[in-house]
Parts: sequence; structure tokens; C-alpha cells
Amino acid sequence: MQARTLIALLCLVTSALAMAQTVPFYDPARGVTPIADEAKPPPIGNEENRDIRRTRAYSMQPPTIPHKIDNYRVDKNFNQCMFCHARSRAEETQAVPLSVTHYMDRQGNVLAEVSPRRYFCQQCHVPQMDVKLVVPSNFEDIDTVLRQSRQSSSSKKK
Ligand code: HEC
Ligand code: HEC
Repeated sequence: MQARTLIALLCLVTSALAMAQTVPFYDPARGVTPIADEAKPPPIGNEENRDIRRTRAYSMQPPTIPHKIDNYRVDKNFNQCMFCHARSRAEETQAVPLSVTHYMDRQGNVLAEVSPRRYFCQQCHVPQMDVKLVVPSNFEDIDTVLRQSRQSSSSKKK
């Protein structure tokens, strides 16, 4: 009986100790700055401007922007992206014209002009910066996954 109470007491004390031990706060984006404080933002990276279209990670990915977009105006009166990316401007600018999905409304009707829900390009398309990844990623695209599964199934057959 006494031994049991002793064990129970010991358990209580150790769990209380474990709770009291403060784990230092760490977040990949904020560092050690507590949630309630304002973290010092890292310096803004350089926008990549190589003009080379990048591989899409999956077929429906909005392609990332391979050029600088500093000071490009996009508001209710003017859309500078369309100055080059509109269907009618492609020949002169050699920019990739918007695909048909940008002209579709929610019901799938194809409109004459860019659909309002695709008007603000940077909702989906973003330039890339030459910076260290904040959160590591182990994403593999579907081709890699399929190749691996084919390899493993063919090695099982042998
Ligand atoms: C001065 C002309 C011009 C303007 C303005 C412009 N672009 Fe481009 N954009 C291009 C050209 C040309 C390409 C082809 C690759 C290259 O040369 O950079 C391109 C490529 C892209 C691509 C890659 C397409 C793909 O299939 O990989 C995206 C996305 C894009 N632009 C988005 C934008 C957005 C969003 C804006 C407005 C903030 C914008 N562009 C403004 C000329 C322009
Ligand atoms: C709601 C998200 C969204 C918005 C807003 C949007 N796009 Fe896209 N965009 C996509 C997706 C998704 C794709 C790839 C699949 C497709 O073509 O629909 C794409 C593809 C593209 C491509 C490549 C077309 C091709 O044939 O390879 C260009 C260029 C582009 N967008 C430019 C723009 C510009 C310029 C704007 C602003 C006028 C814009 N997008 C607004 C989601 C968006």
C-alpha cells in the first residue's frame, strides 16, 4: 500500500516537473521571437529575372513568374500584366498569352475579356526570390512517384 502511494506521488512530481519545464519557442519563419512580439523581418531577396520559364510541379499549378514585376501596376483602371500577356499582345511582346481558363467564368462560359476572378494575377502567380528555404520541402512530382513505384513493382517480380 505504502509503495503504491509512493509511486503515485513520484509520478505526480515528475509530470509536474515536466510541465513546468518551458520548451524554448522556435518557429522557422519567426525564429525565437515570441508570438506576441514583432519579429524583425529578413531583408527582401532579389527577384529572379532570368526570363526562363520554370517547370510546373503539377499540371494545374499557376506557373511562377520568371521575370521582375517591380512597379507593375494592377488596379481597377489598368492591368500592366495584360499589356504583354493579353492574347492580342503576344506576337509583339513574345509573352505567353493567358490560357483559356483565364477567360472562363464559374459556369465554364468563355468570355471575351479576362474573367474578373482572374484579373488580379498575383493572387496566383508569384515571382521567385533567390533565398534560403524557410521550411524544408520533400515534395516529389508525380513523374518521380510513378517511376519509383514502377521500379519497385518490377524489382518485386524478379
Ligand atoms: C513587358 C512585358 C511583360 C509584362 C508587363 C509582364 N510579363 Fe509576364 N512574361 C513576359 C514574357 C516575355 C514572358 C516569357 C518568359 C520571359 O521572357 O520572361 C513572361 C512570362 C510570364 C509567366 C510564366 C508563364 C509560364 O508558362 O511559365 C508568368 C506566370 C507571367 N509572365 C506573369 C506575369 C504577371 C503576373 C505580370 C504582371 C504582374 C506580368 N507577367 C507582366 C512578359 C511580360
Ligand atoms: C485564380 C488563380 C489565377 C489568377 C488570378 C491568374 N492565373 Fe494565370 N494561371 C493560373 C493557373 C492555375 C494556370 C495553369 C493552368 C491554366 O492554364 O489554367 C495559369 C496559367 C497562366 C499562364 C500560362 C498559360 C499557358 O498557356 O501556359 C500565364 C501566362 C498566366 N497564367 C498569366 C496570368 C496573368 C497575366 C494573370 C492576370 C491577368 C493571371 N494569370 C491570373 C491561375 C491564375
